[in-house]
Amino acid sequence: MIKKFFDWLKQPLGLIAVGIVFLGVFSAVAYGIYLTQQTPEQPIQFPHRTHVAFGIQCLYCHPGASKGPAAGLPSQAKCWACHNQIAKTQTSALLAPLKDAVINGESIQWVPVAIVPDFVQFNHRAHVAAGRNCEECHGDMSQVDIAQNPQVFNMGWCLNCHIEAAGDDQEKLVKLSDCGTCHY
Ligand code: HEC
Ligand code: HEC
Ligand code: HEC
Ligand code: HEC
Ligand code: HEC
Repeated sequence: MIKKFFDWLKQPLGLIAVGIVFLGVFSAVAYGIYLTQQTPEQPIQFPHRTHVAFGIQCLYCHPGASKGPAAGLPSQAKCWACHNQIAKTQTSALLAPLKDAVINGESIQWVPVAIVPDFVQFNHRAHVAAGRNCEECHGDMSQVDIAQNPQVFNMGWCLNCHIEAAGDDQEKLVKLSDCGTCHY
């Protein structure tokens, strides 16, 4: 029975069947990868490029990065402080959802793109205090229209930099590679 099946696989029809199965699996995998690489649908198409080009500092909108674990996202009040003075706000379709949120007093539900699982303890403050730039981990946001994650925040990525940062300092190496530093 099995042998018959394998013989059949070698026939033209069998080869076509193998091809179809292979293509099916391949495209399913490719589609899965494609989905994880897609920029999420955000409530407002917020362009980092435009804002950074105006000289607005990262920490103005993400002040938590120098103070604690989370960088934080700006409230709509912070957006509005500028946008109620900008003529384009009245006419831009991209800004219509911001106007609606302000009028209705609703907060904007941004979809996270830079994120690690809950069982990982990441803290911005320690990194900013150690002189690390946003760019080292988030890429050059001044060139980004809609934010997406330029790299995978996996364990190897964290550890590689930690080992490099520790250098010859054994005590630091033990601390920065200890499981309990990132998982507790
Ligand atoms: C005018 C305010 C503003 C400025 C300035 C700004 N950002 Fe943002 N940032 C936002 C908003 C709003 C979001 C949420 C929307 C999104 O993810 O696209 C965001 C999202 C992000 C994210 C993704 C966070 C997530 O939700 O997962 C990163 C990373 C980020 N910003 C880094 C930076 C860096 C680095 C700079 C400086 C080069 C910067 N931002 C400057 C407003 C700002
Ligand atoms: C410090 C001032 C400032 C802050 C804060 C700010 N913006 Fe802006 N934003 C601007 C300027 C300036 C422009 C460019 C306007 C122009 O092209 O005429 C702009 C452009 C935009 C655009 C593109 C509009 C278009 O039609 O091209 C969007 C969308 C936008 N901002 C959303 C936001 C959101 C959402 C926030 C809050 C998270 C925010 N902005 C905070 C100054 C600011
Ligand atoms: C050492 C790497 C690293 C550096 C440096 C860094 N970040 Fe992050 N950032 C991360 C990681 C990892 C996450 C995901 C954290 C999580 O899910 O808890 C993140 C998440 C974020 C987020 C979204 C979630 C949140 O924390 O509110 C924003 C916004 C952000 N970073 C902005 C910044 C800004 C602005 C700077 C520079 C002042 C910066 N980051 C510096 C690694 C870094
Ligand atoms: C680009 C380099 C870099 C990357 C990437 C990086 N770190 Fe760090 N991390 C550092 C440096 C530098 C320090 C500070 C070391 C010191 O104490 O001088 C640090 C310190 C820490 C600390 C210790 C805070 C304390 O108690 O002092 C934690 C926790 C941490 N990192 C978690 C993470 C996690 C989780 C990731 C990955 C999601 C990560 N880091 C990615 C460079 C990095
Ligand atoms: C510098 C920070 C850091 C240190 C130190 C660290 N981890 Fe992790 N760990 C991470 C991050 C970030 C992830 C999330 C990986 C992802 O999402 O792909 C993770 C994921 C994991 C997972 C889940 C694996 C998976 O595939 O989902 C396990 C288990 C784990 N770590 C165990 C450990 C053990 C055991 C140690 C000590 C030998 C350790 N970690 C040290 C940052 C760290």
